[in-house]
Amino acid sequence: MSLRAAVLLLSTFALSVVLAACSHDAAPPAAAPQPERKAAVQATADHDEHSYAEPQKVRITALALDLGVDFAQKQLAGTATYTLDWKDPKATTLALDTRDLAIAKVEGADASGQWTPLQYALAPRDAILGSRLDIQAPRRNASVRVTYRTSPDASGLQWLEPSMTEGKRQPFMFSQSEAIHARSWVPLQDTPGVRFAYTAHVAAPKDAMVLMSASNDAADANGNAPRTGDYRFTMKEPIPSYLLAIAAGDLVFQPTGRRSGVWAEPAMVGKAAKEFEDTEKMIEVAESLYGPYRWGRYDLLVLPPSFPFGGMENPRMTFATPTVIVGDKSLVSLVAHELAHSWSGNLVTNASWKNIWLNEGFTTYVQGRITEALYGAELADMERQIDQQELAKEIADGEIAPADQVLALPALTGRDPDEALSDIAYTKGAWFLRFLEQRVGREVFDPFLRGWFDDHAFQSATTAEFVDYLKSHLLAKHPNAVSDAELDAWLHQPGIPAFAERARSRGFATVDSARIAWLGNGQLPPPAITSAWTTQEWVHFLEGLDETSKPAQLAQLDAAYHFSGTPNGELAQRWYPLAVRAGYHAGDAQMAEFLQRVGRRKLIMPTYEALVKTPEGLAFAKDVFAKAKPGYHPITTASVAAAIAKAEKPAQPAAAKSL
Ligand code: BES
Ligand code: ZN
Repeated sequence: MSLRAAVLLLSTFALSVVLAACSHDAAPPAAAPQPERKAAVQATADHDEHSYAEPQKVRITALALDLGVDFAQKQLAGTATYTLDWKDPKATTLALDTRDLAIAKVEGADASGQWTPLQYALAPRDAILGSRLDIQAPRRNASVRVTYRTSPDASGLQWLEPSMTEGKRQPFMFSQSEAIHARSWVPLQDTPGVRFAYTAHVAAPKDAMVLMSASNDAADANGNAPRTGDYRFTMKEPIPSYLLAIAAGDLVFQPTGRRSGVWAEPAMVGKAAKEFEDTEKMIEVAESLYGPYRWGRYDLLVLPPSFPFGGMENPRMTFATPTVIVGDKSLVSLVAHELAHSWSGNLVTNASWKNIWLNEGFTTYVQGRITEALYGAELADMERQIDQQELAKEIADGEIAPADQVLALPALTGRDPDEALSDIAYTKGAWFLRFLEQRVGREVFDPFLRGWFDDHAFQSATTAEFVDYLKSHLLAKHPNAVSDAELDAWLHQPGIPAFAERARSRGFATVDSARIAWLGNGQLPPPAITSAWTTQEWVHFLEGLDETSKPAQLAQLDAAYHFSGTPNGELAQRWYPLAVRAGYHAGDAQMAEFLQRVGRRKLIMPTYEALVKTPEGLAFAKDVFAKAKPGYHPITTASVAAAIAKAEKPAQPAAAKSL
């Protein structure tokens, strides 16, 4: 059975027993099962199928965290206190999302501030959704407070030994809450359809600097903050739960602009500040297109290389992989991307994960605009062309099911939102916006997009709402710009519409000629040409090599350009799979080192996926994975384990998969 099928089976089982409420040692008697309690979360147009919360009854409007960071126990422990806005006069239950949390007690306070125990029930764990926590909240004006601690295996946290950091002296911890992992470190209405302001008081060992997706109350005018072991944070803008973030470790600050800076380990911070020196200019470009940056400061936190993503747009504090710091600023469009989320995602938020292209597609489009304004249309075209060709290949190779190739996705009930996410949201989403831009012109499209952000600021939105807005605010005024059939192709049909204009970089034409010449006559392009190539040109060179490369050809490339052992993860990500498929083994040791050092999923999965296709490769992959696993994030561990399990198990009959 595939891991996917196993997960589905497990979750079906868990859902069937979820009705049984369990009581807890130090807790008051468990609440009686509620008649309105539902086992499975049903999806409707504006319902989030990945949350047990019932925001139509009651909404969290403010959260106050009081947490201690315990590196030895790998746990956060303390309280979460909620301010509630009751919507339904008859509702008495507050349903929260949790995963692997130990709940010690739940209390309510009236206006006089007197805390008294409340009844609650924690349902058994669902493999995807976690455990529903039902709290009986009798007084409607009461605050509710949950005392809890996290599991060392919390899916939204990674605890790193000192050896896994740059400095090797202090432990490190960071969160990754998107999509539905916030619930593993805070009991919450963990749905992007609910927003709340938050404050946090965090106690940590004195030598650990703590950062959150909020302003540090003790920060100075430059954005630096003292390392005291006792931290207070305030996020006064309402944010969805997936933007809740925390990190702790040996972190120091360096400013990059009047409202931007970099936090990193001491050995990295100078390099990082240099690489990201254009951040302030990026903010200005984005503001000129889409209106004021509404979050105060914009800082970057450079994490250890185990961070499973390239970047995460935590408000005021983007979390970023160190793998984009390559010394020539060639990968800083990652910053443009995460910054762009300050409008598309953080300001206007996908109402649930089936609408994620509203976050990622819009952001990829805005990222391209920032890149173009700062570094020129040629670089923006190159990045677009790389993305588009990659998506075309994924579609051609059958890696994305046709039903998942649409922007207007149906409900993702029973699926993990992380698994359902694909380049469709990013690349097809951005492509659709570019198509609209081309049809009406920038002078019309730019104000339209700004209007979308302004009119939905600090709200969540669905695809249907965007389509309505598009029709009323753009297409009604430009009735001949886009046909219904074209709209339908983008939103509801699989694949990329044939009428979509493909990105074409002029620089890539030179790269293509050089590759073709080499494949024909064995002559590599001279250094006079290649010394000027950027990361994107090398990526394009490698992506044009197909499965038929011979070991001798790769040896020639490696001797000339030193791909094995490259510090550039974008090149490593393309080079090692080529080597694996060709049976070129000279770089195996460097490949193993890369797979063990880096935990960014996108960079290492192509190599694992190439390895598991042959018995020797599979053995190599398992060996490397066994060594790397203690340093991987839970998200990366799950992806690698799934790739290995899939290769080891024979394919299942279709019936087993359709559960
Ligand atoms: N918000 C995403 C990361 C994410 C998406 C995490 C869905 C969990 C679930 C972030 O903004 C992102 O897209 N990161 C990319 C950056 C790239 C497109 C420049 C990444 O990590 O590769
Ligand atoms: Zn993104």
